[in-house]
Amino acid sequence: MKKPNIPQKAPYVIKVTAGTYAWCACGQSKNQPYCDGSHKNTDFKPIIETVTEEKTVAWCGCKHSANAPFCDGTHNKL
Ligand code: FES
Ligand code: FES
Repeated sequence: MKKPNIPQKAPYVIKVTAGTYAWCACGQSKNQPYCDGSHKNTDFKPIIETVTEEKTVAWCGCKHSANAPFCDGTHNKL
């Protein structure tokens, strides 16, 4: 599988309300960190994450986290 694009080497820290979110895994979405359908011609698919309560989420922005869709610090090694 090809490597994902790297929109930024830092997480997107966003306060989110409860709901379902589609995290962009391919790195090509224009609506980071969320999927906008741009993965269509790639091998990637979004990761669907359900958030049960309002909280601040550090979504991985480098797309290389081993704990996707969340930042695990891997961006520091890219
Ligand atoms: Fe990247 Fe959908 S646009 S996974
Ligand atoms: Fe990807 Fe931190 S932004 S691991």
